[in-house]
Amino acid sequence: MKKMLQMERYYAERVTEMRGSDIRDAFKLTEEPGIISFAGGFPAPESFPISLIEKLLQGMFQDDYSGLQYGPTEGLEELRRQVALQMERDNVPCTAANILITNGSQQALDLICKVLLDPGDYVLVEQPAYVGGLNAIGNYQGCRVGIPMDEDGLRVDMMANRLKEMSSKGQHPKFIYTVANFQNPTGVTLSAARRQALLQLAREYDFLILEDNPYGLISFGQEAVPHIKTLDDEGRVIYLGSFSKILTPGVRVGWITASESFIRQLTIAKQGTDLCSSSLGMKLVLESILSGELESHIASLRILYRRRRDAMLHALSSYMPPGVHWTRPEGGFFIWLRLPSYIDTKAMLPFAVAEEKVAYVSGKGFHVDGSGSSTIRLAYSEASEAEIEEGIARLARVIRRRIEAAM
Ligand SMILES: Cc1ncc(COP(=O)(O)O)c(C=O)c1O
Repeated sequence: MKKMLQMERYYAERVTEMRGSDIRDAFKLTEEPGIISFAGGFPAPESFPISLIEKLLQGMFQDDYSGLQYGPTEGLEELRRQVALQMERDNVPCTAANILITNGSQQALDLICKVLLDPGDYVLVEQPAYVGGLNAIGNYQGCRVGIPMDEDGLRVDMMANRLKEMSSKGQHPKFIYTVANFQNPTGVTLSAARRQALLQLAREYDFLILEDNPYGLISFGQEAVPHIKTLDDEGRVIYLGSFSKILTPGVRVGWITASESFIRQLTIAKQGTDLCSSSLGMKLVLESILSGELESHIASLRILYRRRRDAMLHALSSYMPPGVHWTRPEGGFFIWLRLPSYIDTKAMLPFAVAEEKVAYVSGKGFHVDGSGSSTIRLAYSEASEAEIEEGIARLARVIRRRIEAAM
């Protein structure tokens, strides 16, 4: 057989910064039968509005083939208008020219990093942060600086100190990446006061804010905290939205709201990436909005995920041993666990799977400084209420054994 080329010899330097994610690794463990998995963070498949999608697809091609044709790079004009209207309802002054439709918000993260980052540029990130965001920054050789969080989101006070320190060394971040609502991975929400303070710091130190909000509409009752973008009158905040969690991730439709000139630059970058987002996906999203049914669908999702959140919080307080702490999300898909510091949750995972058939994601991969080894991300989005109760009881047994072994 002919010897295969050693492809690594041809790779670009930036490839050294590209990492696989712990989350994907955890998926492999969950494929075994009988496993209850809190690893994925996928939407509940039974929540997908199948009959609505079938109805929309049936009516779609009668006198219009735009769902099957290449579309404009910026996205279907009518979809951009509808998204702009939604942003205006959220108090963000906006027209279609401020909207770029993307192939999911993950592509938005990639395009923004492509346009903004030179190798070695500093980017502030939440610690812990969404791995897909960290990877997008890493792919363009951005230098990630973690800012700690608490129950009210980013510790803006600690960020101020960090910025002062960085500034004295001549280090100026290009932007901060934040998931301010029901964060992935912790479930926490950045308080209104801290949003103001964050924008103040961004002005003082002249960096941009990347506000990624895929979970904002999956809220469990409390009044929504205004988007950071509503406080912005100079185009400093770049806002990302997505239909993945409120319709289906299969449509691969997200969007960027930003100043017109930045949208134009991103559009040029997108031309070289994929020409346009999925026309079929965009058309489905558009028709679901125009039918008026997306709104009622979102209302039903809030009820479904709220029940699952409640089931997980209840099970955690019933079964977890002392020394385990967790967040209480007001929306989204995730709860964050802190275990006693001597427990390594990555090392514990194979035992959780083998001994109790329960899976989770270790929190370490969400930290840019290698810390977080005793933390866990739990997703309540995919499992049923009964599975949540049983899965948390199993996980509590695994943790209890570790604590007892350390005594
Ligand atoms: C915080 C955050 N941003 C972006 C994404 C990417 O979403 P999509 O590309 O499906 O819109 C996800 C997906 O889980 C996410 O949790």
